[in-house]
Amino acid sequence: MLSKKQARTFFLGGTMLTFLIFIALTIYSFSGEQDQANTLQLNEPIVRGKQLWEKNNCMGCHTILGEGAYYAPELTKVIDRRGKGYIKAVLMSPVSWAPNGRKMVAYGFTDAEAEDLIAFFDWIDDIDLNGFDRVVSPLAKDK
Ligand code: HEC
Repeated sequence: MLSKKQARTFFLGGTMLTFLIFIALTIYSFSGEQDQANTLQLNEPIVRGKQLWEKNNCMGCHTILGEGAYYAPELTKVIDRRGKGYIKAVLMSPVSWAPNGRKMVAYGFTDAEAEDLIAFFDWIDDIDLNGFDRVVSPLAKDK
């Protein structure tokens, strides 16, 4: 049985130790080599792609990292899944792309705009998801 003083020391010591471990792990998480989002690789095409993503409300139908709407395929790993050529065809198509039944908006993007969006997807694709790489598409027929 601990005396009252021993119990207090044990409590304060334990609290202090776990607090210090927590602070150390927080610093480690934000350190340079832990840059899981590759922020140093950000360049102008990626930023332009992100702006196109925002301006055209792609999240009204799609998700990235699970954020967005569940009408259309999840796009976090779309580069892996479909390849750049397929994505470019979807983005530049003059008619609604809908091989799986639901319609993608026919944005008819220019080659340069499609390249910017692909740069953005490529960057997202490279984010280290701590092994959580199997982001499931809401479209059952889609793999
Ligand atoms: C009105 C809803 C809607 C909006 C808004 C929308 N999409 Fe789509 N998109 C879809 C649907 C539905 C599909 C799947 C079509 C199919 O495969 O039949 C799709 C497919 C795609 C694909 C191919 C994904 C795959 O796995 O086959 C890409 C890439 C894509 N969209 C990008 C975008 C981008 C970029 C934007 C914004 C500029 C956007 N979408 C906005 C509905 C939408």
